Amino acid sequence: MPSRPKSAFVCQQCGFQSPKWVGRCPSCDGWNTFVEERVVAAAKGRGLARAPRAPIALGDVPADAEERLETGIGEFDRVLGGGIVQGSCVLLGGDPGIGKSSLLMQASAALAAKGTVLYVSGEESAAQVKLRARRFGIGGDGILLLAETDLASIIEAIRRTRPIFVVVDSIQTMSSDAIASAAGGVSQLRECTARLLELAKGEDVPIFLVGHVTKEGAVAGPRVLEHIVDAVLYLEGERFHAFRILRATKNRFGSTDEVGVFEMGETGLREVANPSEVFLEERSRGVAGSVVVPTVEGTRPLLVEVQALVTPTSFGLPRRTVNGADPQRVLLLLAVLAKRAGLSAGSHDVYVNLVGGLRIREPAADLGLAVAVASALRDRPADPRTVFVGELGLGGELRRVQRVAVRLKEAQRLGFERAVVPAASLTDLNGTGLEVSGVATLREALERAGVADR
Ligand SMILES: Nc1ncnc2c1ncn2[C@@H]1O[C@H](COP(=O)(O)OP(=O)(O)OP(=O)(O)O)[C@@H](O)[C@H]1O
Ligand SMILES: [Mg+2]
Repeated sequence: MPSRPKSAFVCQQCGFQSPKWVGRCPSCDGWNTFVEERVVAAAKGRGLARAPRAPIALGDVPADAEERLETGIGEFDRVLGGGIVQGSCVLLGGDPGIGKSSLLMQASAALAAKGTVLYVSGEESAAQVKLRARRFGIGGDGILLLAETDLASIIEAIRRTRPIFVVVDSIQTMSSDAIASAAGGVSQLRECTARLLELAKGEDVPIFLVGHVTKEGAVAGPRVLEHIVDAVLYLEGERFHAFRILRATKNRFGSTDEVGVFEMGETGLREVANPSEVFLEERSRGVAGSVVVPTVEGTRPLLVEVQALVTPTSFGLPRRTVNGADPQRVLLLLAVLAKRAGLSAGSHDVYVNLVGGLRIREPAADLGLAVAVASALRDRPADPRTVFVGELGLGGELRRVQRVAVRLKEAQRLGFERAVVPAASLTDLNGTGLEVSGVATLREALERAGVADR
């Protein structure tokens, strides 16, 4: 007797299931997030198709040399931990139009020399994908295209063509017969991802899934999705800037510290081997509010220019507009500047911008941000040959930062002459080519920068 379709209300935010509709999700507190999804009980084809496996002793597991598939796109391989691991399932998220399909098309082209690549597109027609490939100068030998959204057909195609690399663009457009709800729903997403993961492991083929992101920037669908896959990558960048940063937020086969830097152009994403140089190329020297901060992304130092602009508020509440840094952090720095250094922006609008569309979240950038704002507020340029690094405490004290030696080495390489660092970080340095000042407080740092209150 055919089983009756079971229906459940599923929170589209966290995947919580409820037999009846509820306004507020008891799990994630989201409002109006429940949608009815009909799930066919005992989904077809989910039974064990193979003989059950017996446990084996860990010591007896054959230790294959870890085999990685290298695309030759250095920035991409590095973020993955040195290439693509066989049988892995990787989710690539990113804002609309940021270049997800471009990156995976370029990776496909690079791998096509080694074997068949299957590119499944649920969003674009084969002709559209071809158009992009042509713009990138990709001939297409060894790349099979499949414009399909039905999971069963895709699995069939993977089994039949035995590719060495599969791209599914995007997971939100895929749907399985086993689930009665529409594509993109939580149940569908979970089902399709789980099936593809199973297939990746079973066939030992790496599968890359493109994932759409929500307004908040997480991959759409429940976090469950991020738990299922082996690695989660995000391609970030400001839409109107050419730079794109690829980072891993989860990686079962490598560090999540590494980032890859690319530049988007007519012919696709180009690797940027020396990001600091590129980010500082158009730097405005001798302008108040501009400060260079040596940050570290993963193991790589990256010099970025922070710009601040401070103008008297002409109407209503003062504005605070922040691009690239954490707005909450900037508010905190403004408070510390006012209280600990006597520099209040209370009647001023403050704009903070990281040049090149970069996003920096590490607290080590605090001092640079504070100096930039102070310099803008006093309308006095900070020394253009000095870099500033340090985490600020609420008391205006400077805290030690990680990897200070690597940061200063990069600064020296790019022609900087001086560095202001937290006094506690001095012990981590033994001889840099820079003139290093260790300072204990924000006030001291502002004096070194030449922007302190007279
Ligand atoms: N002729 C061109 N010259 C330069 N850049 C282009 C050109 N055509 C497209 N682009 C860039 O490519 C981007 C689209 O790339 P792509 O389709 O790979 O993004 P995506 O992340 O897959 O987007 P979606 O979320 O819509 O699938 C555009 O936003 C634009 O920046
Ligand atoms: Mg796309």
